[in-house]
Amino acid sequence: MSQSAPTTIDALPTGTALSHYAITGLIGQGGFGVVYLARDTRTNRTLAIKEFLPTAIAGRIADGRVVPLSTEMANAYSYGLKGFLREANLLAEFAHPALVAVHQAWEQNDTAYMAMQYYPGKTLREVRVRMTARPTEAQIQQWMSPVFDAVAELHAHRVIHRDISPDNILVMAAGETVLLDLGAARQVLGGMTQALTTILKPGFAPIEQYVEDGSMEQGRWTDVYGLAAVIYFLVTGKPPTPATSRIVRDSMPPLATLAPQNMYSAAFSAAVAKALSLRAIDRFKSMAEFRTALGWVPQRKPQAAPTERTSQAVALSADEVGALLTPSSGASDLSDVLPASMAERRGTEQEYKNAASKSTGVKIVAAIGVALIVIAVFILFRR
Ligand SMILES: Nc1ncnc2c1ncn2[C@@H]1O[C@H](COP(=O)(O)OP(=O)(O)O)[C@@H](O)[C@H]1O
Ligand SMILES: [Mg+2]
Repeated sequence: MSQSAPTTIDALPTGTALSHYAITGLIGQGGFGVVYLARDTRTNRTLAIKEFLPTAIAGRIADGRVVPLSTEMANAYSYGLKGFLREANLLAEFAHPALVAVHQAWEQNDTAYMAMQYYPGKTLREVRVRMTARPTEAQIQQWMSPVFDAVAELHAHRVIHRDISPDNILVMAAGETVLLDLGAARQVLGGMTQALTTILKPGFAPIEQYVEDGSMEQGRWTDVYGLAAVIYFLVTGKPPTPATSRIVRDSMPPLATLAPQNMYSAAFSAAVAKALSLRAIDRFKSMAEFRTALGWVPQRKPQAAPTERTSQAVALSADEVGALLTPSSGASDLSDVLPASMAERRGTEQEYKNAASKSTGVKIVAAIGVALIVIAVFILFRR
């Protein structure tokens, strides 16, 4: 840090006006920014506002503005600021229940802000750290399945998240999860200012994210690794060995050796191991492939998800009711079992409809065939 660094006053105080919002509290402060609790003065709605404040290269001065710590850092700061705005504007284009909803991004105080929906909850890391027992496979699916959907939605629009970790997934009271924070701003800043190793979350970033020369391409497989790393963390309580160590000597125990077989299926452990392959080519190429290998339900159309979840009453079969009542189902409560079994049932119904329409078609063709034969025989005999 430079000697001529301005005096830094970190977070803005409660009551500060930002655009048409008023700061009402502080949610969190990291090396790249500050997240405030705020109120929309027009609607009175509570929301969260993130401010770009990379403390390694910039600080706040008395009038509230954020300035680079030195002239040499001005370039990095302006690149980082652009990255932050790009991330905010990119996120604002998406509307997915499991992806942070960004309402607005703007520049003020010589820095930038994004106003987002406020999600009261804890990060997945906090939730896991507080647990005394491993989460069941059904619980992991309940948390991660919406996140898989959100990432698939990003991928469908050619956006790679690049920063999937338990710190960037919020869990709310009813267990719903939301994915935060695209890695864009960090990456831009990382390249400019410091070693990537301090920017990336060790254990959750695949090897291609450490290579700056572009020789190892990043793509959907990069997020596949991040998601698998989160699942590995949920099962074992520890992040996977950092990819930089694994590339020298891969001593990371595969999930199957750490996960009790009576809790996690062989398919689940094998899928996580494959998704955590060091070489991108050995991983799944898409979220759909990964999901199928895990044995999780097929992807649903994101837009249709809320109506399906809330308005469709699905009757359970006797077997499903039995499974719910038997402790050996491996799930800790009803909510662990219901979503999966309901969705499976939807899948079955769809397959059934497809099969039924196919068999109707076959019947019609057969009937026409029989009719033609009867007519031919009739004509022959008349002669
Ligand atoms: N919209 C939000 N609602 C509630 N809490 C949030 C929200 N956005 C961020 N947070 C909290 O602030 C922390 C940091 O936010 P994040 O967007 O991940 O920024 P960064 O990782 O760049 O510091 C999160 O881990 C979460 O605890
Ligand atoms: Mg974050």
